[in-house]
Amino acid sequence: MSDLRESLNQTREEFEKKIKEIQNLADIEKIRVEYFGKKGKLTGVLRGMGNLTPEERPEAGKMVNEVRAKMEEVFAQSQAKMKALESSYKLKKEVIDVTLPTHYEGCGARHPLNNAINEICDIFLGLGYSIGEGPEVEYDKYNFELLRIPKGHPARDTQDTFYVSDNILLRTQTSGMQIRIMEELTKNGGKPPIKVVCPGKVYRQDTLDATHSPVFHQIEGLVVDKGVTMGDLVGSLRLFAKKLFGENTEVRLRPHHFPFTEPSVEVDLTCWKCGGKGCNVCKGEGWIEVLGAGMVHPEVLENCGIDSSVYSGFAFGIGVERTTMGRYGIDDIRLLYENDVRFLKQFK
Ligand code: PHE
Repeated sequence: MSDLRESLNQTREEFEKKIKEIQNLADIEKIRVEYFGKKGKLTGVLRGMGNLTPEERPEAGKMVNEVRAKMEEVFAQSQAKMKALESSYKLKKEVIDVTLPTHYEGCGARHPLNNAINEICDIFLGLGYSIGEGPEVEYDKYNFELLRIPKGHPARDTQDTFYVSDNILLRTQTSGMQIRIMEELTKNGGKPPIKVVCPGKVYRQDTLDATHSPVFHQIEGLVVDKGVTMGDLVGSLRLFAKKLFGENTEVRLRPHHFPFTEPSVEVDLTCWKCGGKGCNVCKGEGWIEVLGAGMVHPEVLENCGIDSSVYSGFAFGIGVERTTMGRYGIDDIRLLYENDVRFLKQFK
């Protein structure tokens, strides 16, 4: 019995000394095996209990349990301490200084076409216009019919259309937005004034080459109010041109024909490269064609429930690709759609 007490105390003292010296979780595991394992020291001492008399056993059992509980408590505390220590060490080691400079991966930029659209729309926003958007898959009646381009009209041939079905198509122009905007207003009893620009994609069955693409962008403009005149149209376009290309930019109108405007014009601006002298960008002309425009045809107003004896309006359609290409001296429209990073990088 006293032998047992002796060796128990010895084991415990030795254990407590060792556990004070541990450095990490691996050490603590070693101690676990050394003392509490199947072949461990404490287990060995307990085995010695086999030599005791039955009378001695209860007291010995009590003693052993007490010592073991104490040792286990010390062990658990050290283990917890080591775990905390190791995890704080790990956290310290893995800390990341987010303020350190890093390898620069490069930053994207807006596509030149979106840039142009934003810039142009911003100018009109500044002139009090609002911005509208509509579907690229459009009804025939909005794209053609209500714009005075009935089935069989020759204007349909100049805009080779992608048809989805008999009366649904990919819009060939943003002019359908004129109808949508006016109809939306009057169907709820609203009345002009209207001042809106509508940017968007349009589609035509053109074979892709340096100057043609089956998809391109237009910005439609529409102003309807009492007493709107051709003079207002010219004034607005002149303002727009000067804001976009500089004070010296001039506007030139050439008579043209669109079924939905009367009179109709094609509008040229003085070349933004040579200022009108003639160069490679304007092909020696000094002028670049940028948009189609005109006074909204009275029948179109009436088609949308607007009294053409009270109201008049003008409309214009800006070719975004043409403006962008001219501006940056891009000579191939395909560059705008291939998304070649070497090309796009130049517009940062
Ligand atoms: N929609 C015409 C085109 O695509 C342009 C235009 C718009 C003309 C508005 C007049 C008024 O060619």
